[in-house]
Amino acid sequence: MAFTRLTAAEAAALIKNGDNIGLSGFTPAGTPKATTAEIAKIAHAEHEAGRPFQIGIFSGASTGMSCDGALAQEDAIRYRAPYTTNAVFRGKVNEGKIHYNDIHLSQMAQELRYGFLGEVDYAIIEVCAIEDDGKAYLTAAGGIAPTIARLAKKGIIIELNAFHSPNSIGIHDVYEPKDPPMREALLINKVTDRIGTPYLQLDPKKILGVVECNIPDEARAFKGADPVTDKIGENVANFLMGELKRGIIPPSFLPFQSGVGTTANAILGALGNNPEMPAFEIFTEVLQNSVVDLMYKGRVKCASTCSLTVTNEVLTDMYKNMDFFKDKLVIRQSEISNSPELIRRLGVIAINTAIECDIYGHANSTQICGTKMMNGIGGSGDFERNAFLSIFTCSSVAKDGKISSIVPFCSHIDHTEHDINIIVTEQGVADLRGKSPIQRAHTIIENCAHPDYKELLWDYLKISQKGQSWHNLSAALSFHDTFVKEGDMHKVDFSKYSK
Ligand code: COA
Repeated sequence: MAFTRLTAAEAAALIKNGDNIGLSGFTPAGTPKATTAEIAKIAHAEHEAGRPFQIGIFSGASTGMSCDGALAQEDAIRYRAPYTTNAVFRGKVNEGKIHYNDIHLSQMAQELRYGFLGEVDYAIIEVCAIEDDGKAYLTAAGGIAPTIARLAKKGIIIELNAFHSPNSIGIHDVYEPKDPPMREALLINKVTDRIGTPYLQLDPKKILGVVECNIPDEARAFKGADPVTDKIGENVANFLMGELKRGIIPPSFLPFQSGVGTTANAILGALGNNPEMPAFEIFTEVLQNSVVDLMYKGRVKCASTCSLTVTNEVLTDMYKNMDFFKDKLVIRQSEISNSPELIRRLGVIAINTAIECDIYGHANSTQICGTKMMNGIGGSGDFERNAFLSIFTCSSVAKDGKISSIVPFCSHIDHTEHDINIIVTEQGVADLRGKSPIQRAHTIIENCAHPDYKELLWDYLKISQKGQSWHNLSAALSFHDTFVKEGDMHKVDFSKYSK
């Protein structure tokens, strides 16, 4: 190998207080793990010595414990964008200790290129192979690797991770769009069309060294399915089968994007196992175990994704069977996997989970009671805004029924009434297409709200001012205010509010 070999500690020592690092990967898949864990140790030592040490992090999406977790634990993150799921990181954000910029995942690479987010000092890129001329073969995700590698002004650190098999070479379609006014159309007309190269071409002169390691990915384990997620899955599947039968969805079906987590798995499981459902395609940002299983069964024909966010067991198995996947699977950069242009062209059916939805059809994906960050918007906005059918799911209640997930007005709005077609809870399906706000309110309360909260939501409309949207401005957040003060939304008391 033509490049200097570095230990992870030597690579980490290059990064100084105040630097911004850009990371390959998307979710813990494909994210470098060795160097960031060592940066956390440096931060610990520096803080012990009474010296400041904080860095900025630019990533494709969430990372794992050895990055967001370890660095947040050491108060070593000054600024971070975009999405993260780490509980330690979340805690620090909600204590006001980290500046967290929660932007749409499709926009991350271009906002870096546009110079909106500051400079990238170092890029750290995980690969399964690297050639002396700088051809780098990415691992389990596309993320924003080409952009951070090109922008990194102080150089590139390579993590050559033997956990990821070079058998996967050929699965990536690496492509970085030009910036306006030179941007060109993305000529992807089918899910598995390719427009790039199977490798990331790096400038060999920028490679500071290669850290060899063998570290598994740090994908999160999801909670198991339960009767509520199963019922939501069944409701979505029945709704979509109805749309297929009445000819709204073409007989060959349309590609799916489905969010991460238990509900998403339940939905895909319900669809995949429905004998009336034709085999379908996936155009998504995160591919989970359930899709791999459906590919083996022939129920999913092919998939485009930004990451293989599967368990390590499934990933190892996929690497052994790459011949099966190579013509059925393509991994792309997040600005391609989540491109509004492509989502709209392909007619993707988007299904994501919200924290709460309001009676007019706005959705909150990110902030509990309007103030506390949960994870972030991820790619939900990229897909929902541009989908052929945009579907949000949530359970009708949370926290043992003390919270209604259908509220008079969302405490934070990530997706507006203009973007959402369908809301599904375990109670039923609200089809919002073609409806005015007050018609939507009736449909959502009737079909999606939990029986415990229906009367309270009807009462809210009774104390509201009529208009395009009916609202009582003093009581619009009364459900949340009551929960914060009394720990239970059931206790909301509308007699306090005049019309
Ligand atoms: N108010 C307060 N808390 C709520 C709530 C509400 N209305 N609804 C759910 N929660 C809590 C749950 O109780 C749970 O808390 P816990 O972690 O303490 O158990 C937590 O939020 C997660 O909810 P859960 O029901 O387990 O659902 P999930 O794992 O499917 O996550 C989101 C739901 C919204 C947090 C998750 O889908 C997300 O981060 N979405 C935004 C990003 C996105 O959509 N990406 C998709 C593109 S891949």
